Amino acid sequence: MERLDKILANTGRWSRKEVRELVRAGRVTVNGRVARTPEEKHDPASAFLVDGRPVSGERLVYLMLHKPAGLVSATEDPREPTVLTLLPEHLRRVGLFPAGRLDKDTEGLLLLTNDGPLAHRLLSPRRHVDKRYFVRVAGILDQTDAEAFRKGITLADGLICLPAGLEILEANTGLVTLREGKYHQIKRMLASRGKPVVYLKRLTMGPLTLDPALAPGQWRPLTEEELTALRAGGGEKE
Ligand code: URA
Repeated sequence: MERLDKILANTGRWSRKEVRELVRAGRVTVNGRVARTPEEKHDPASAFLVDGRPVSGERLVYLMLHKPAGLVSATEDPREPTVLTLLPEHLRRVGLFPAGRLDKDTEGLLLLTNDGPLAHRLLSPRRHVDKRYFVRVAGILDQTDAEAFRKGITLADGLICLPAGLEILEANTGLVTLREGKYHQIKRMLASRGKPVVYLKRLTMGPLTLDPALAPGQWRPLTEEELTALRAGGGEKE
């Protein structure tokens, strides 16, 4: 059993404050009865209606997750736990998937949504959505690495990467900005410079910035502003 305001706010469609207003205005019913208070507890599998329309069903959900290391960015995996195991049961049944992958050992910003068209736009290589990562390497970063990133690195298998940013913070840490997302891209780019990655964390993705209030493993619905920015841009077309 969970609080009504929590259940409805977890859909990502309303803030807790908005849920409280909806309930006070008598616009929410649970299993056919008008809800009285935002605090009352219900089974999240109940039938929730707002203004007579089902809350479950076709709802679009957008969650910002601080991915911890150790989970795979997938909806299902035969061997490894996935990021969806971090969500409560009722949110595992609404068709969420990670929009863009992070490696199992990579941490940081991951968008979980069931909005296929939006995820597609965000991930389309033509859109060139910038993603920024904090990286720590074994070795010492220098301006020749930044210059190689700027020109576009050629990986060991001959794959040519788009120009990328490398801002050096300390001798062995930096901020990498990518406009594409090839398999193990940052690890392979830095391996090609002889400076293997020892820690990687995604900080931004297009207009989204990882909320510093989220500890690894925590998530929250996107705010209206984040969603508007994502819908408006999601990156520029070529
Ligand atoms: N580059 C990598 O090598 N791994 C990630 O998870 C993301 C970018």
